[in-house]
Formats: sequence, C-alpha cells, structure tokens
Amino acid sequence: MTIRSKLTLSVTLLFAAALGTLGLVFVRLERVQLEKQAEEDARIIASTVDRAARDALVQRDDLLLLSYVKFLQKQFPALSYVEVSWMDAGRARTHRIGTSAGAAPSTVMEHTLRVKDPTSPDRQVQLDIGIDQGYFHDEVDKQIGRIGRDLARLFGIALIAAALFSDWFARKLTRPLAALSEVAGEIGRGKLGVRLEWKSNDEVGALVEGFNRMSQRLEELDMMKKDFVSAVTHELRSPLGAIESFLALMQGKMVGGRPTDPVQFQTYFDRIRANVTRLTGFINDLLDVAKIERGKMECSLRPMRIQEVASEVVQFFEAKAKEQGVTLLTRLDANLSPVSGDPERLRQVLVNLVSNSIKFTPQGGSVWISGEQYREAGARFLEVSVVDNGRGMEPDDLKKLFEKFAQGKNAEARISGPRGTGLGLVIVKSIVEAHGGKVGVKSQPGKGTQFQFSVKMT
Ligand SMILES: Nc1ncnc2c1ncn2[C@@H]1O[C@H](COP(=O)(O)OP(=O)(O)O)[C@@H](O)[C@H]1O
Ligand SMILES: [Mg+2]
Repeated sequence: MTIRSKLTLSVTLLFAAALGTLGLVFVRLERVQLEKQAEEDARIIASTVDRAARDALVQRDDLLLLSYVKFLQKQFPALSYVEVSWMDAGRARTHRIGTSAGAAPSTVMEHTLRVKDPTSPDRQVQLDIGIDQGYFHDEVDKQIGRIGRDLARLFGIALIAAALFSDWFARKLTRPLAALSEVAGEIGRGKLGVRLEWKSNDEVGALVEGFNRMSQRLEELDMMKKDFVSAVTHELRSPLGAIESFLALMQGKMVGGRPTDPVQFQTYFDRIRANVTRLTGFINDLLDVAKIERGKMECSLRPMRIQEVASEVVQFFEAKAKEQGVTLLTRLDANLSPVSGDPERLRQVLVNLVSNSIKFTPQGGSVWISGEQYREAGARFLEVSVVDNGRGMEPDDLKKLFEKFAQGKNAEARISGPRGTGLGLVIVKSIVEAHGGKVGVKSQPGKGTQFQFSVKMT
C-alpha cells in the first residue's frame, strides 16, 4: 500500500469517525428535545380541553363542549378519547367521544380533569382524557428517522469531499518523495550531481536539501577520484618516462661499458636520481594518507628546535627557488625556545608548505617562513607561517583545501614542475593535529597566500 493511499484512508476514516460521533450526539439531543415537545403537547391538549369545558359550563351548552372535543380530536390525533361526566345537582350523565381501540392500551395515559362552573359551583364536569403516548413516540421516531436520513446524505457528501481533499493533500505531500526516489534511481545508474528542485519549510524540504547536498558531494567525490586517477597516472608516468629516456641516452653514450662523456653522464645520472626521489616522495605521500585514513598517523614528540628544521628546508629548496627566480628565506629567530615535536614530521609539514609556495609563486616573488609566540589556556604555542606573494587562490578553493585529492583551480594553470596530487595539505593537517596544533590559511587571488600552523612550546 502506498503512503498516499494510507494517508488518504486514515484521514477519511478519522473524518468518518468524527462525523459519526457528532451525528450520534446530535440525534440523541434532538430526541430529548422532541420528547420534551411531546410532553408539552400533552399538557396543551389537557389545558385546551379544560378551557373548552369551562366555557361550555358558563354558557350552559353541553353540546358546545361535545362538538369542541370532537374538533380537538381531529386537531390532535394523540387525543384518543374523552369521557365527559356532567355532575349537576340531580343530574349525572356520561358521554364518551372516541375510543382507545386504535392504540395499544398500555400506551394510552388517562388524565382526569374536574371543571366547576365559576358562576354556580354545584355544576361541574369530570373529563377523563386518554392521551396516546405511543402516537408521540411514533412521531418522535419518524422525525428522528427523517433527521437521520438528512444527516446521512450530508455526511456522505462531506465524506466524499474529505476523501478527495485528503487524497489531494497526500499527493501533494508524497510528490517530492516520488521525485526523490526517481532521482535516487538516476544516481544509482551513475548520473551523479542531479538535483531536485523543491522548496518547503518542513521535513520534506530538509530531506530534499540534504539529498541535493549528498548528490552534489557524490559528484565532487567522483570528480576528485577522476582527477586523482589522472594525477596519479601523470605523477607515476612522467618520472618513469624521464628515467626511461635518460637511461636510453646513457646507453647511447657508452662504448665498451664506459661512458664517452662522463660530465654529460653525471647530468643524466642526477636527473634520474631526482625523478626517483619524486616517485618515492609520491609513494610516501600515498602511504601517509593511507595511514591517516586508518588513524595511524603517529608522531613521537620531543623537545626540538624548529628554526633548525626550517633552515634545512630552506637550504633544500634553495636551488629550486633560485632556478625559478623566487627569493626564499626563514625569518625564524635563532634563539627561539624549543617546541615539542617530531622533527621528521615537522620537516614534512614545512617541505609541503614551502614546495607549494614555490610552486605557486612566479618569478620575482618571495617565500618566507616566520614565527610568533602566543599563549592559550595557560600553554605557550609557536605559530609558524609560510608566506608567499604568489598567485593566491579563489575563496571557493580555500574551503576544500584540506580534503584528500583537492586541488585548486590554480593547479590547472601553468605552474613550474609537476602538477601534484592534492595530498600534501591533508598530510600537513593531520601531522599538525597529531601535535595538538591547528592549521589555518589566508589567501587572496593574485596577492599571495599564508599558511600557518601551531605547535606547543616546551
Ligand atoms: N601557496 C599556495 N598558493 C596557492 N595555492 C596553493 C598554495 N598552497 C596550496 N595551494 C592550493 O592547494 C591545493 C592543494 O595543495 P596540496 O594539498 O599540497 O596538493 P598539490 O600540491 O599536490 O596540488 C593546490 O593544488 C593549490 O591549488
Ligand atoms: Mg603540495
């Protein structure tokens, strides 16, 4: 059974139950009212007969009373019979009009009235009136039957209206769900990133919004995966290709197992070594990310001088920076007190940050490392910044920077050296967090970028 039919059915049933209860209460009240009315009618009959008898006595016209009683009997069918007994001094006679034959004897109630002539009290008349209660009951039943039929007709119409309305409402409610399941099917068939246009301020609206976000995220992840595969392929193929061609060149320059040009030979050899280093670095990055995913990024913290590590990193990149026309220096104070860190891991952080800065800084720019101490919650921290005045990045790219395989749009533009794989900053972040610190970034397109991280001081 669909949600739509369940909703329609339950709303209609509820409505029917409510209407039924209301109808029953109404009929019961109406019956009480009608029964009161019947009692009132019986009283009116008695008092009318009483008045007629008095008039007849005053006018001394017995026939008048009899013909009036006959008239009343036509008027009030509940008046079964009237037995008139005149009791004048010396005269007593009885006359009965009507019978109780038509009615069940048990339902006829007899009332006795005694009326005196106000002008001569010895003249009086006794009236035994038979009022058929059964007649009233039948009347009440007939009325209630009529009301019941009217109500049933009305309820029937109302129920159809309620069913139509609840079906419309249920359809309105479930329409986005049906659309959602269709879109989910599309995603299942591999069409990622599809959106459902639906706005409402309720749970369904929230569900659709969450669904759209999920779909968008799936598309992004898929894009990242594709980018990653192409980056990895490139990252593996280009150094391997370079090694292969240098090896072929070296082979061509050997005669009898000896190099013909040892200087050229050394250059080839250095290039091969650089490419092997690049391959190893990339594979180490992949291994590190795998470790992070398993929650196994471990750092063994000990007191260390970060300014020394920074100097080594600057030295390591000096040649590359010079080749690219970028000034690279460290402004860290040589007398800074030690921090609590893992020197190998912090070197990795600085290598990643500095290599990014050099990569994204054009000729004539500069890259520097600086540091500032601060206190937080009673502990002393050093905030190390790697700053450049290079390309910078778009605000959109800043948001996803620390996610796996995320690369900014600037990585697509022409940059010196390998394109990268978007793993460096993931590793940076998890190393810094394993040190109990935080990473942050500020960047402006065309102006430059500043990455900073904090480490506890001893
Ligand atoms: N100093 C920087 N200047 C401009 N963009 C940067 C800088 N550092 C990082 N980025 C952006 O962040 C992205 C992710 O960096 P990273 O995780 O090191 O991956 P990769 O270097 O392999 O691309 C880069 O692709 C680039 O878009
Ligand atoms: Mg990088």
